[in-house]
Amino acid sequence: MAVSAPRSKGWSTLSVALHWTIVLFILVQFIDHDWMEGMWRAARHGTPVDGSTQTGGWLHIIVGTLVLIAAIVRLWDRFTHGRPPYPENEPRWASLLAKITHVLIYAILILMPITGLIAWFLGVHEFGDIHGLMWTPLLILIVLHVVGAFAQHFWFKTGVLKRILVPGTV
Ligand code: HEM
Ligand code: HEM
Repeated sequence: MAVSAPRSKGWSTLSVALHWTIVLFILVQFIDHDWMEGMWRAARHGTPVDGSTQTGGWLHIIVGTLVLIAAIVRLWDRFTHGRPPYPENEPRWASLLAKITHVLIYAILILMPITGLIAWFLGVHEFGDIHGLMWTPLLILIVLHVVGAFAQHFWFKTGVLKRILVPGTV
């Protein structure tokens, strides 16, 4: 089935659950990335790390890897079952902006963990830099995405906010 094939019954429970799980994981990464940076600096300079830095650093690695898995499963679900159509009662430019934002968010959700894993496990420092460079664009995209979601609800009066909250909403 094509990527954009209409999913006539709205988002699946899996898709909705993964959306909000990813949101939660990104929030965790927002909080724990300082520990990861501390652990990374210590590993590079061969200096010791305290217990909380180590716990926070490993939390970053584990949760970041779970983001990769969750994004891939969500994409797999979307490729195999399609997604609900973009609303008809919103302007073309808004649908296009939403599509571009979604593609870029997915790209970063996949590339950030991969570059982080390469930096950490293979010790390639440049990948650590590339990893860090993607953070600000991700935050900007998320702000755009959330503003878009509220604009959909309050301005264009579409049902997309409801359908990402309640599985099966058309
Ligand atoms: C989507 C998931 C992830 C997000 C949003 C994320 C976010 C971040 C952020 C914001 C930083 C600080 C960057 C900076 O200020 O320069 C960071 C650093 C780092 N993260 Fe992640 N991370 C994710 C997944 C991972 C994974 C799976 C690993 C695997 C080991 C990892 C390894 C690292 C490393 C090694 C650093 C230090 C890089 C440096 O400071 O140059 N991250 N991460
Ligand atoms: C870390 C934060 C977030 C990330 C990474 C994220 C990511 C995504 C992604 C990748 C999609 C899938 C689009 C697709 O497969 O076509 C999506 C859909 C959606 N998100 Fe988010 N999201 C985040 C936060 C939020 C928040 C806070 C809201 C609500 C206020 C929201 C509302 C929506 C809505 C309404 C859709 C469905 C769009 C539609 O059915 O056309 N998202 N999100």
